Amino acid sequence: IQYRSSSNEDRLTVMLNRKQFLKTGFLGAIPLAGIGCTNVNKFTGSKPVVIATWNTAIKANEAAWKILENEGYALDAVEAGVRVEEDDPMNMSVGYGGRPDREGIVSLDACIMDDKGECGAVVFLQNYKNPISVARKVMEETPHIMLAGKGAQQFAKDQGFEEMDLLTPKAKEAWEKWLENGKYEPEVNIENHDTIGMLALDAEGRLSGACTTSGAAWKMHGRVGDSPLIGAGLFVDPEIGAACATRLGEEVVKTAGSALIVEMMRQGYSPEEACKIAVDRIISRNKRNGTSLKNTQVGYLALNKDGAFGAYSIQEGFTYAVYNADGNRKMDSEFRS
Ligand code: GLY
Repeated sequence: IQYRSSSNEDRLTVMLNRKQFLKTGFLGAIPLAGIGCTNVNKFTGSKPVVIATWNTAIKANEAAWKILENEGYALDAVEAGVRVEEDDPMNMSVGYGGRPDREGIVSLDACIMDDKGECGAVVFLQNYKNPISVARKVMEETPHIMLAGKGAQQFAKDQGFEEMDLLTPKAKEAWEKWLENGKYEPEVNIENHDTIGMLALDAEGRLSGACTTSGAAWKMHGRVGDSPLIGAGLFVDPEIGAACATRLGEEVVKTAGSALIVEMMRQGYSPEEACKIAVDRIISRNKRNGTSLKNTQVGYLALNKDGAFGAYSIQEGFTYAVYNADGNRKMDSEFRS
């Protein structure tokens, strides 16, 4: 069943899949007030709204919402939001306190994209705890879109960011424990959180996104995943919607996950349906190659230009947080297996 949404300004077509049809019935697909359907929120949006990966992002959402509720700019909101996690030493997958690579060195990746389709990224950044803000400076202050390694560090220094040691005693201890066995075996949900990807739509209808990570724990020195790659870890098309990814970056890159989701929303799929298609793409690629996804998790979030959102993951356990006029709340993603 296809239903063209009432706002229609983005020619958005909401697709109702069989599972949703069985859950809600036909009336559940009609996003009109007063019809009495049970699943309206799944298909209608509101603005402003912010959505971020893992339910640990509740605090990050609060920082973003402070900006959004005062009619602030979505780009400022996503930067301020993800910085909360970058600053938090208890989050061991992002920024300060992130788990190091197998040499014991913390390196960070991040990217940001605004409502004009401009973007900036840093990869393999060491000794600066807020890669998202350095990425924004790359976007705003340079003719480039990405800086890496020593060049990124020099740029951060020139821009006045404070240099610091990112390896906390807790992360060092975890690394030393890992060295006892030294095997690189990514797990489905390490501590149930990882990269923070955040998408926001502000009161003026401007979309922006941010994605930041310390990458896979115990990665090879120099490894970069999906998070700083526009089209993989994050993509924003101001006319259509935005998407971001979390967990095993290699799988996201191989299928251009976030760009694919935005293209699916352009074709009329709902945010959740679009995320499901991107998850299915990972599954079919691995099936074709006879590789197992038993220990692999990827989670996607999507937000469209109307403020409707959705999520989908390969495995159970991917959570996210959304803040809109209904408040700040934790959500469980739909999943494939
Ligand atoms: N999604 C984070 C990474 O793979 O680096």
